Amino acid sequence: MNDQRNCHLAPYPLASYLARKGEIDAAIQGVLDRGMYIMGDEVASFEDEFSRYLGVKAAIGVGNGTDALQIALKACGVGPGDEVVTVSHTAVATVAAIVLCGADPVLVDVDPETYTMDVRRLREALTKKTRAVIPVHLYGHPADMGAILDIAEDSGLYVIEDCAQSHGATLNGRKTGVFGDIAAFSFYPTKNLGAFGDGGIIATADPGLAGRARLLREYGWKRRYISEIHGQNSRLDELQAAILRVKLRHLDEDNGRRRTIAGQYCRLLDGKGYVLPIERKGVEHVYHQYVLRTVRRDRLKEYLADHGVGTAVHYPVPVHLQPAFAGMRIRRLPLGVTENICGQILSLPMHPYLSTAEVENVCALIERCDARGENTAPADSPTAIS
Ligand SMILES: Cc1ncc(COP(=O)(O)O)c(C=O)c1O
Repeated sequence: MNDQRNCHLAPYPLASYLARKGEIDAAIQGVLDRGMYIMGDEVASFEDEFSRYLGVKAAIGVGNGTDALQIALKACGVGPGDEVVTVSHTAVATVAAIVLCGADPVLVDVDPETYTMDVRRLREALTKKTRAVIPVHLYGHPADMGAILDIAEDSGLYVIEDCAQSHGATLNGRKTGVFGDIAAFSFYPTKNLGAFGDGGIIATADPGLAGRARLLREYGWKRRYISEIHGQNSRLDELQAAILRVKLRHLDEDNGRRRTIAGQYCRLLDGKGYVLPIERKGVEHVYHQYVLRTVRRDRLKEYLADHGVGTAVHYPVPVHLQPAFAGMRIRRLPLGVTENICGQILSLPMHPYLSTAEVENVCALIERCDARGENTAPADSPTAIS
């Protein structure tokens, strides 16, 4: 997911290793030498450091972001017969986690400016069965948490934040992951905070939810070999935790660089007929992806690929149209924006180790593509498809 492997620019996971090679090699060697590879000091320290970074009481390391969502849902007691509202314009994992719990996903549309949940649709989606809502802070832009929390409070819903793409993003000065009852993060290697394998974490201020999540991640054990509840095996391992501890120390600096690159893209592409990303008032976007929109997306993508620049589409097929989900009876509200934008969005190269010259080169190629008349049609304005 989310990779730009064919890009002639350095692939992000490798660049992130080379940038901090000395620190990371020492951290890995330390774990190997100590000989404790599962549930040791590195995981405990990382959980502590990550919870302090966010400003929440507890963080529980798990095997990946999908498990983080699934365990968070189960910790809230979500299961068969419950409905969980989320968006269809997201990684399939968001919706898969709901299905894996035995609950029924209900899909609503996104706002065409931020690509996050259209909160007007959330209220319309609620029924007596609705138990939880999962806002996704897609591409690194926080969802409209004020409105979502108001609706959740009125209706007694759990709020489970999907922070897989928003490590360090803030809304009114508070980091994503602290707004809802519980939050799920992924450390897939391409994420803003990425491991060198799979990893994830659950964050919550609620001691009851934290306690249940801890049991659920390891066979329901409170004491070794005694299962209090039915749990699963989803542990963050020591090597990944040690790597993540190093990378967490640099996350704010890396996000700052992403924001600088996004600013450069916005300046160089402004007024050229593209719908460019925006930041809502009070938001500090962390640009997991820099996504523009154009009706000539496929041609632009091909032109850039022909000139050695790999781009990606996040995501080409909304979840409700994926083969695995199309056959299911998933309740959904009108998804006009979702279905429209998936043919127009393009994620440009984005990671902290891109140079100013590399970003200029991408923008110059886009301009050359325009000049060839291959991308001159104006993109839809956000309001045109809302
Ligand atoms: C929005 C979103 N949610 C959940 C996930 C699932 O994370 P993982 O791949 O670690 O299971 C991802 C990862 O791609 C994601 O982007």
